[in-house]
Amino acid sequence: MRGRFERRTFLKAGIGFGVGLRLADPSIAAQEDPASIRPTEGDLLVRLGDSSATPLGPDDIPLSARPTMAWAMDPADKTVRSGSRLNQLLLVRLDPVTLTPETLSRAAEGVVAYTAICTHEGCDIDDWLADKQHLSCACHFSTFDPKDSGRVVEGPALRMLPALPLKVVDAKLVVAKPFTSRVGFGEPPL
Ligand code: FES
Repeated sequence: MRGRFERRTFLKAGIGFGVGLRLADPSIAAQEDPASIRPTEGDLLVRLGDSSATPLGPDDIPLSARPTMAWAMDPADKTVRSGSRLNQLLLVRLDPVTLTPETLSRAAEGVVAYTAICTHEGCDIDDWLADKQHLSCACHFSTFDPKDSGRVVEGPALRMLPALPLKVVDAKLVVAKPFTSRVGFGEPPL
């Protein structure tokens, strides 16, 4: 059964950061603006729309539930990296025994992070298929498995979702490494 999640939040984010298929960052601005650079090792994570920018911990992400939308945040100057919609993250907490070894290696107490941008044509991934615990994009119904590296399960997308490896430091979720591949859409090779 399809469960539309945080649709209102997505729409608000889209208005703020450019909804639809506006995918390319202005490259110079993206490189220079700390809010627009991709999540960086050591970044904390904060819930999308949280004006208090409270860092998230594993227990803030409900088990086997619809994804939590988040941004990365520089821990030093508290810059929330919300300057590019390509930085939108989906956080899902899953039973670690259900994760493939590769996904488990990127998970933090069962929490996995993926881009919220569909690799097909760049729509927001806005559906959660609770029965199979899959992420789905309502634009053309590409479906991805967060338990298996964001693998494409069905639909027209040609490549898996870029994952953002996490770790836990002082009970908070922290970015362990950069995205596993380029965020956005397009065919491989990247
Ligand atoms: S943009 Fe997501 S399936 Fe086409």
